[in-house]
Amino acid sequence: MKDIPRITSSTAAKSEFYPELLEQIKAITEDQSYWVTNLSNAAAIIYHELRGLAFFQAKPINWAGFYLVDPNDDQKLILGPFQGKVACTEIPFSKGVCGAAATTRTTQVIKDVHQFPGHIACDSASNSEIVVPLVKDGRLLGVLDIDCEETEGFDECDQAGLEAVAKVIIDNCAW
Ligand code: SME
Repeated sequence: MKDIPRITSSTAAKSEFYPELLEQIKAITEDQSYWVTNLSNAAAIIYHELRGLAFFQAKPINWAGFYLVDPNDDQKLILGPFQGKVACTEIPFSKGVCGAAATTRTTQVIKDVHQFPGHIACDSASNSEIVVPLVKDGRLLGVLDIDCEETEGFDECDQAGLEAVAKVIIDNCAW
């Protein structure tokens, strides 16, 4: 098993957290190109490290994972690898925060999901959410979706960090 760098309590400041998260994601994906494998490990790292960060900064993540463009319907997302409670299996592009990220191909930082028209409540514990689109060479592949139990769980720092993480994942997988 490859040695994956760990994030320690001394690096729990969010500005230092994301570069270290990026190194972990690079290390776990660079020798592997199968997307199921890489997305599974990426979901596990993101979920557990963000919850570790939450220990210091009180940000309780309750779901982290991927929705992928349905190979049989390019206007629909289907559930991919994730960590957290059971989630809805299909999301049309016209629905939810994930649908908005897929349609606009821009990251959605939603401070209060209950104020978002069409939000899909898979887990009633979710109060805020960030969704990063995965786009490679102009092709939408899916989205990275992370939920938080607190309102205003994500900001521009999370957005920049997670967009960089998404890029590494995209580049290290064969799609
Ligand atoms: N809340 C999402 C649906 C997916 S779950 O959060 C896992 C949305 O509105 O797109």
